[in-house]
Amino acid sequence: MGTLATELDLPDLTFVDDADRTWQEAREAADAVAAEHWLARGMFGFAVLHYDDVVAVLRDRRWHSASGQILEMAGIESTEWTARRRQSILSAEGEEHVRLRRLVGPAFSPRHADSLRPFMRQVVNELIDGFEGHGRADVAVDFCEPYPIPIICELFGAPKEDWKQFSLWATDIFRIFNGNLEEDLPAIMRANEELDDYLGELIDRRRNTPSDDLVTALIAAEDEGDRLSHDELISLCVAVLMAGTDTTRNQLGCSTYLFAQHPEQWELLRKRPELVPRAVEETMRYLGAVRGTVRIASEDIEYRDVLFPKGTVMAASLSAANRDESTFADPLTFDITREPSNKPQLTFGSGIHYCLGAALARAEQQEALTIMADRMPNLHLDSAVEWKPNSFGIWGPARLPVTFG
Ligand code: HEM
Repeated sequence: MGTLATELDLPDLTFVDDADRTWQEAREAADAVAAEHWLARGMFGFAVLHYDDVVAVLRDRRWHSASGQILEMAGIESTEWTARRRQSILSAEGEEHVRLRRLVGPAFSPRHADSLRPFMRQVVNELIDGFEGHGRADVAVDFCEPYPIPIICELFGAPKEDWKQFSLWATDIFRIFNGNLEEDLPAIMRANEELDDYLGELIDRRRNTPSDDLVTALIAAEDEGDRLSHDELISLCVAVLMAGTDTTRNQLGCSTYLFAQHPEQWELLRKRPELVPRAVEETMRYLGAVRGTVRIASEDIEYRDVLFPKGTVMAASLSAANRDESTFADPLTFDITREPSNKPQLTFGSGIHYCLGAALARAEQQEALTIMADRMPNLHLDSAVEWKPNSFGIWGPARLPVTFG
């Protein structure tokens, strides 16, 4: 029987995401902790920071997703919200999760993502048209913020006149993470209800008139006679909107910031666009917008001679694992020519909850960076970057003023 985790003398990671730390300070503090021990005390329980341990935890099915309980863990309570919340692919486990992934997986294939590339290029070009003449832009506000919404709408087969409404719903639903639930709850609930109604109608329309989009593909998805119910279809579309917008925009913000700090890499990308797929992996490794995820022990778990009792909360630091020098040579060097390896960067997660939209997110970033490098040469920071508050989850620049040309 291993030593009880709570009895170990462990380094403390709880301070790392203090709001008043810069991300560089938080990174240094996390790396110092990672050098001391493979396990640390985390914000809600424990935390793993090394590549192999992060992968081991995320691939071990006894560690269940905590995404359905994040608000409770952060001390935010709302019976109204809890009552309304329904099962999502992000929080489903076991057979239920396997079934959902099996049904929806094919609709998220690289081939489907590739079919949206011409549309992505059109959106990227139109956004850059809006500021190219000025030779300066706030990339976070003018580009990253609006970029993912039309793509998700096109994916769903929602018409252009509804883009703005989608963006407003997504913004309101994301308020759930603002820590001000008492005030924000009415807007959050309203947005959820309106989005559910909209998606319900869209699904009904597609049942009658199939089209070439994700909603139609999900309606048709079948595995040995099994199909998604109407509620499951809505829930999946909401999960895609929630998981696919803020992640993409923040990652692109982080990546653009990195290139503004490394002009020689930006120039290299402009001259050698074939490096774009590697550049996407390297930016996600070096400065990932999803910095970690959380699991809960569904039973007593023994790992590396340590006993984690049922209910133990475990954070898996994707960002620290991405800088593990036993996996990535010279991890603090940003190098878009880095050779691909059989140990990929972890910003899309690992194991059964591995990002369902990874192919789409890769395509979105590849198309954006290719065109930006071409149309926005000599990229430099215009003034200080304003970062969103430090958080273990999704994070990136709130303002990213640059000059180019
Ligand atoms: C750069 C952009 C993105 C990043 C960094 C990202 C990251 C992640 C990560 C880390 C997870 C796993 C969470 C966990 O294990 O707890 C995840 C899951 C997921 N992502 Fe993404 N994501 C991105 C874009 C997208 C897009 C564009 C979509 C939809 C089209 C999407 C849909 C999903 C879904 C549905 C899940 C849940 C999968 C499951 O639980 O089985 N993501 N994502």
